[in-house]
Amino acid sequence: MSAGHSAGLTVIVLAAGGGTRMKSKTMKVLHPIAGRTMIEHVLAAAREMEPDRIVAVVGHQREQVSEHIRELGPDVVLAVQDEQLGTGHAVRVAMEAVGDTAGTVVVAYGDTPLLEGESLRAFAAEHEAAERAVSVLSGVVDNPFGYGRVLRNHEGDVEAIVEEKDATPAEREVCEINSGILAFDAEFLRSALPRIGNDNAKGEYYLTDTIGIAREDGLTVGAHTIEDVMQTEGVNDRAQLARLGAELNRRIVTRWMHDGVTVMDPATTWIDADVELSPDVTILPGTQLLGTTVVAEDAVIGPDTTLKDCEVGAGARVVRTHGELAVIGGEATVGPWSYLRPGTNLGAGGKIGAFVETKNATIGDGAKVPHLSYVGDADIGEGTNIGAGTIFANYDGVAKHHTKIGRHARTASNNTFVAPVEIGDGAATGAGTVVRRDVPPGALAVSSGPQRNLEGWAQAKRAGTRQARAAEEALGAGRDGEQDVAES
Ligand code: UD1
Ligand code: CA
Repeated sequence: MSAGHSAGLTVIVLAAGGGTRMKSKTMKVLHPIAGRTMIEHVLAAAREMEPDRIVAVVGHQREQVSEHIRELGPDVVLAVQDEQLGTGHAVRVAMEAVGDTAGTVVVAYGDTPLLEGESLRAFAAEHEAAERAVSVLSGVVDNPFGYGRVLRNHEGDVEAIVEEKDATPAEREVCEINSGILAFDAEFLRSALPRIGNDNAKGEYYLTDTIGIAREDGLTVGAHTIEDVMQTEGVNDRAQLARLGAELNRRIVTRWMHDGVTVMDPATTWIDADVELSPDVTILPGTQLLGTTVVAEDAVIGPDTTLKDCEVGAGARVVRTHGELAVIGGEATVGPWSYLRPGTNLGAGGKIGAFVETKNATIGDGAKVPHLSYVGDADIGEGTNIGAGTIFANYDGVAKHHTKIGRHARTASNNTFVAPVEIGDGAATGAGTVVRRDVPPGALAVSSGPQRNLEGWAQAKRAGTRQARAAEEALGAGRDGEQDVAES
């Protein structure tokens, strides 16, 4: 009886292939899907098995791929496969990198973003319990074209895996395929790898030849069939990337609905793998919650909202908004048509309204920026109201400067705050004020001069235009009226 992974567990992730069908300067396994790269999904699934070590085999564009893997986890062993001579050769390179390991070795591919740790765990557990030399995670599919076929004898025992190009027409009829995920007894694997040849249609060292080798050695071989074959489906081109992306999203959205989130239109809702939602969050159509966005209970997001790496407090309402690296307090309201740029921090019960752009701005509890404004590099105290059409002029063409507005201030419409400047607690401004100097607490700042009316200006300077005629008519009507009164 094998006792769990007590003898050691190694997971090998193959990612040396070129992925030419992606037609991309970005290596295939680095393409994102649900906010993570493909290989990040696979490494996360591998980690869920709590292995003793993970080995990633890199080759094509190894610099790019290695750097990414090191960022994800410095503990992942990187093995370089200079030439892609086949899956058998790739695993040999991986085994050379880890040295003398015992126990179980699981091989997976870096381009299967739907793979779940639980499936790997169940597969490895069955492999170990059955004390097999090799186990293959197989799947039954309608169209097996391109896959290695699992060949069984009359007793139903797995005899071999034959690749598409090497298969006879009868073998091609088999619909049980090799998902690509295999589990090995480490000792057997080490003995089998040097015995794999490349005398086949592709001239490659096939890892799948280990099945036949184990049979020749009289060792136990078996297959574990996965119901959910999409988990092992690899991405080869952009069409598959989109199809698996949509499927992964459907799974994530469904999981959140089961966890108590209302999603009005799952088809137009996109939620990345690392997003966190609370029960009783409501998501309206056309909404994307991306990156590490976190939404607390009773918040309502959407319609038509994109939030990336944002934090939304309980009961907040976010309508038709684009936000990135922003924090929205509990019971706050945002939108419609708001643009929250990094460093926006809206307090509890605060408001960022229609056509407002914010950046690096802390807006206190209950403070409001309701209409048509730009708030950059600013602190706005609690309970303060910013008038419609206010511009925080933070940039002098060379450097950015900061504006501070105190608590419970009331600034009027169409103001410009020329930073650096400070407006005190309880201060006010008049309409159209350009604030260039600090305003003390409680003061009213006005900067526009007294209004002057230059009478008859339109008639004199715009003579003959509709504007001038309208003025003449208005004034004429008034004079006639006065004359009528005088004559009667
Ligand atoms: C492989 C299997 C096939 C299985 C299919 C599932 C073999 C011989 N065949 O076929 O039975 O049904 O996957 O998708 O194993 N790789 C390397 N180095 C190499 C070659 C490949 O790292 O030298 C990596 C690739 O990047 C890829 C994976 O291994 O992630 C599979 O390689 P690929 O050439 O796509 O194998 P298939 O022909 O699809
Ligand atoms: Ca493939």
